[in-house]
Amino acid sequence: MEITKYINEFTAQGYSIVPIENINIVNESRNFISNYISKKYKVTGSSEYILNHCHELIDQITDSKVNQFILEIINEFSKYYKMDQIIYSSCATFLERILGPDIASQKHPNIVFQYPNSERISELHSDAPANSFYEIVSWLPLVNCYSSKSFYILDKNKSFSLLSSYRNNQFNSFKELRAQAIKEATHLEVDYGHALFFWSGLLHGSVINKTNESRWSYNVRYKNLFAPAGLKEPLSFYNIFSKSAITELASELI
Ligand SMILES: [Fe+2]
Repeated sequence: MEITKYINEFTAQGYSIVPIENINIVNESRNFISNYISKKYKVTGSSEYILNHCHELIDQITDSKVNQFILEIINEFSKYYKMDQIIYSSCATFLERILGPDIASQKHPNIVFQYPNSERISELHSDAPANSFYEIVSWLPLVNCYSSKSFYILDKNKSFSLLSSYRNNQFNSFKELRAQAIKEATHLEVDYGHALFFWSGLLHGSVINKTNESRWSYNVRYKNLFAPAGLKEPLSFYNIFSKSAITELASELI
């Protein structure tokens, strides 16, 4: 795989959609989730089918029921898998080129489930400055994501320009900023087998999923071990994910 192309794209835009180099572990973890749902709701079908249609299995779907449902899945998942390891090993070449070998990963990664017509969307925001500006956000969909089933993002130039206009009071309200952002944004299409990586300073969000399929995704943040942590408390927000030989040696002795 020509990884340099994706590195250059990431540097130019602030994000890149990278083909996964090791899909086996992603497949295995996706099967684990669909098997869990399949046992619980006594349904059969491929992983893809079960995940896309699982909103049809939950009786009278509500946000609090969904919260409980996802928490149960995250609890079970965490007994067997480390999501930061899964995403890293699926795109290791890309991530090591971006971050170097000394890496901190987010301690509590997320599984996001967005079912059709749910009003629980992700409002327009950028992760930094609450999170570190030296962070990369990874977003790995477990089903094909397109149109309103996916989410939208503004590249680094558009994010920077909209945020500075907002700070200079060129918008009358946040609502106006959001409307302009959605107009200028790229509405991403990310198929299963790819991962999106984006800089924490980019504006992004999601709209109501108007398709008839559910969106499922993993997300984990990574940064270089020695990069500033933003407003997060480093010890509670990050794990030490990997160390270079020199860091390993020095941390044993000093
Ligand atoms: Fe975000």
